[in-house]
Amino acid sequence: MVKNIAVIRGDGIGPEIVEQALHVLDRVAALYGHTFNYTDVDMGGCAIDKYGDPLPESELKKCIESDSVLLGAVGGNKWNDVPGHMRPEKGLLRLRAGMGVYSNNRPAKIWKQLADASPLKKEIVDKGIDFIIVRELIGGIYFGEHKTEGDVATDVLTYSEAEIERIGRIGFETAQKRNKKLCSVEKSNVLDSSRLWKKVMHRLADEYPDVELSDMLVDNCAMQIVKNPAQFDVIVTENMFGDILSDEASMITGSIGMIPSSSLGATTCGLYEPIHGSAPDIAGQDKANPIGTILSAAMMLRFSFDMRDEADAIENAVSAYLDAGYRTADIMSEGESLVGCRRCGELIVENLRKG
Ligand code: IPM
Ligand code: MG
Repeated sequence: MVKNIAVIRGDGIGPEIVEQALHVLDRVAALYGHTFNYTDVDMGGCAIDKYGDPLPESELKKCIESDSVLLGAVGGNKWNDVPGHMRPEKGLLRLRAGMGVYSNNRPAKIWKQLADASPLKKEIVDKGIDFIIVRELIGGIYFGEHKTEGDVATDVLTYSEAEIERIGRIGFETAQKRNKKLCSVEKSNVLDSSRLWKKVMHRLADEYPDVELSDMLVDNCAMQIVKNPAQFDVIVTENMFGDILSDEASMITGSIGMIPSSSLGATTCGLYEPIHGSAPDIAGQDKANPIGTILSAAMMLRFSFDMRDEADAIENAVSAYLDAGYRTADIMSEGESLVGCRRCGELIVENLRKG
């Protein structure tokens, strides 16, 4: 198959982690006889420097016209003082909205090789950590009006029934493919938008009788994720709660550097990115963990291109690399071999086998 992939290297560690993911994709293409064409897209701080805009229309267009988008990370201290509407992150938000990718899937799964890297007690980790956060990605407070007038700042949080319903359905369908448990997370004891969220989820539940729906307040959920993560199968939640809970969930699996994500809307053109940021403090030092991006590339093959064997091959190569005891600094512990970003990518490429 021939696929056109828009590649956003971005800022900070973005370029180095994306480079390794492209080496892995090239190896997959060679093994399975595919052609992956890459189109570079500027977004984030580098686009501000070049065009004075974190995502010019022409760059967004390249993404919308691609078969899918692979993204490293954007942002950094250098652009901290630019006005809110011009920040690097604004490029990312515009990209998500422009592509219409309302459904963000963030797996929190512990690799058996990394059980020691989890900050949780062994008896909690041993019960298993394997759940998915389905996060609404293009609504809520991120996309409401933002304004500062004098000494008052306002951010508006709005959800319509239709917006809740379409992400709710993804939550139920994701649960149907797994252990059929869906936990809807909101703050219905305080927020109107959350009361509407809960109402819509319960209305949908009638259409998915095989899925067991539960409700949880977001503050309790933050606690339950560290107390008893084994209780979760699929969590569905709104944009900002999903942002916060997915960082927490990634940490209990050992490192935020390992977690990929997929974002999809009405078409198969998806956005694939690790959930971590641009880590400017270690940028350019060959220290970053490229696995979150490499696994995001695997998700692209699986969900957008229907290349399941190829995606399995990447995941197996990552597993073989971890089995051999190699670790980047973020997941390093005693007795293992420290490698840099580039070597990590090379070793994963060497471990790729056609399944
Ligand atoms: C994420 C990030 C982004 C978000 C930032 C960079 C805008 O934290 O993908 O989780 O808040 O969605
Ligand atoms: Mg985040």
